[in-house]
Amino acid sequence: MTSTDQTSEVAAADAAAQVSDVVSPAADQAPNPHATAEQVEAARHDTKLAQILYHDWEAESYDDKWSISYDQRCIDYARGRFDAIVPDEVQRQLPYDRALELGCGTGFFLLNLIQAGVARRGSVTDLSPGMVKVATRNGKALGLDIDGRVADAEGIPYEDNTFDLVVGHAVLHHIPDVELSLREVVRVLKPGGRFIFAGEPTTVGNFYARHLADLTWKTTVAAMKLPGLESWRRPQEELDENSRAAALEWIVDLHTFEPADLERMATNAGAVEVATASEEFTAAMLGWPVRTFESTVPPGKLGFKWAKFAFGGWTTLSWFDANVWRRVVPKGWFYNVMITGVKPS
Ligand SMILES: C[S@@+](CC[C@H](N)C(=O)[O-])C[C@H]1O[C@@H](n2cnc3c(N)ncnc32)[C@H](O)[C@@H]1O
Repeated sequence: MTSTDQTSEVAAADAAAQVSDVVSPAADQAPNPHATAEQVEAARHDTKLAQILYHDWEAESYDDKWSISYDQRCIDYARGRFDAIVPDEVQRQLPYDRALELGCGTGFFLLNLIQAGVARRGSVTDLSPGMVKVATRNGKALGLDIDGRVADAEGIPYEDNTFDLVVGHAVLHHIPDVELSLREVVRVLKPGGRFIFAGEPTTVGNFYARHLADLTWKTTVAAMKLPGLESWRRPQEELDENSRAAALEWIVDLHTFEPADLERMATNAGAVEVATASEEFTAAMLGWPVRTFESTVPPGKLGFKWAKFAFGGWTTLSWFDANVWRRVVPKGWFYNVMITGVKPS
């Protein structure tokens, strides 16, 4: 082993130690939005460290990046995911009293579900202190009855039988042991309580989404080098930063799912009334290139007409996916899968 190897191993161990302090409930849980090169290197061998660094890094700009809002548009979107998988008789008995969100990010799913009348109050949790800070801030700004906690979904820091509802959006694919996490979900639910996880990538959907996004990135970066397109070019440092973030993104995305495998895990975890549904087929084929293109050009360059085209296009294609393609295309070919289940009474 060379001395350079030794130095980087020590730095990686230090970085990992610092982050395991952050995960420990007793330690200072301040966000760390400016990871050092050593910490990023350590994160290559530690997926939970990668989650914290990547999501702390993104927390303050996450809502803008993903066009997340807490108005009617996203309230309807969140409620639509809930209604798509939960039986009608449950929808007629809302709201649930106490809800928990795992991997809350900035609070997109639970805060909008509370506003949509699905639950009265909630706890937002995430492995990333930066995300918990933003989610709690967003919830308070909306005047909602919420609290926040840094928490690993593989060891949920709440008592058994605490919540009426547990939700998550785009989180299961980040968790190393999904079945362990679902077992934890069942543990903290009250008997008869329900969980719902939406926005998880299917194996087939992830394949075409990644390739389309990659192709868009390469084509746009090459096109911006053409003469006359200088004003569309992002500074090289920003593109490099995007590429570094994208490198961590590969590490934090751990799984894709076959709907049947996800159902099996939930059943093994002790849930009953388990069901999956999937959505976004052609909508994802538009959505991923659009989002990638938006992140490649300077912020604010595309304007309102573009935003209208992107959202309108996505909405129209989603309608076709739900009403036409759903009849002919297998469940596992859609981009997103969601799952629900109940803790036995
Ligand atoms: C793709 S983001 C989704 C955020 C939010 N749910 C949304 O849909 O906008 C995934 C989130 O899961 C969190 N996460 C990753 N691994 C986790 C774990 N083991 N326990 C809890 N949260 C985790 C990340 O920190 C991140 O905020």
